[in-house]
Amino acid sequence: MNPPGVAETHKQGSEPLAVAAPFLIQQKLEAYSEEQHAVWAELVRRRMPQLREHAAEEYLNGFEQIGLREDTIPNLAEVNKRLSPRTGWNATPVSGFLPPDAFFEMLGARQFPTTTYIRSRESMEYTPEPDIFHDVFGHVPMHAHPVFADFLQHYGRVCAGLMHDKDKLEKMGRLFWFTVEFGVIRQNGKVKLYGSGLISSHGEGTHVIEGKPEIRDFNLDQVLDQQFLVSEEQKVLYAVESFDQIYEATQQAEKRLT
Ligand SMILES: [Fe+2]
Repeated sequence: MNPPGVAETHKQGSEPLAVAAPFLIQQKLEAYSEEQHAVWAELVRRRMPQLREHAAEEYLNGFEQIGLREDTIPNLAEVNKRLSPRTGWNATPVSGFLPPDAFFEMLGARQFPTTTYIRSRESMEYTPEPDIFHDVFGHVPMHAHPVFADFLQHYGRVCAGLMHDKDKLEKMGRLFWFTVEFGVIRQNGKVKLYGSGLISSHGEGTHVIEGKPEIRDFNLDQVLDQQFLVSEEQKVLYAVESFDQIYEATQQAEKRLT
């Protein structure tokens, strides 16, 4: 039986992946060193005090629901045992950056491409390559939320249909950036973090809490046209009022761009 809000059509974790297949790997838990677990623990302990106060409640609930721990690098199979019955999503181990068609195929199948590598102690604040801390700590808790779960799959499907059009795909990339990666939401009169780039980076999270970026009300037209720089702290962010808003925005974007 499905938990409330989870329809049978969501159960797509076992769908075979065609384009992404060459990038799928196994997580080798026994290969992590004590030092690597210690890096995970230090990263989590550094972020949690700020996040308990400033993260969206859906993120914090998801963190508990999928059983993330402060002291060890997560076992993705264990995460998926808790996550998949809720929303049909899985955190699926991959070898690194995916080409766009493979990435969107996985999102469309409710499989989140997840790196298994963890950054070294020398790059605690920033790593140019995604790692398991960014991917699992930053992204995966939100996938336990039914509306966010639906939004992200739909986003992947829309983008998979736009592979032929670079300009439209770039616009959709901005929607991803200002929601999934750098999204904020207004809750109880405050701006709360839910984007993985804000959740997983102490510098970026602090930058927002200190009121540095301009926070605009979410507006799809503006977001689709808003350029951004990956390598700099963000100057403009867009606040939603609810996660329904980003689901609906994706449907609107689909109507306009396809
Ligand atoms: Fe990310």
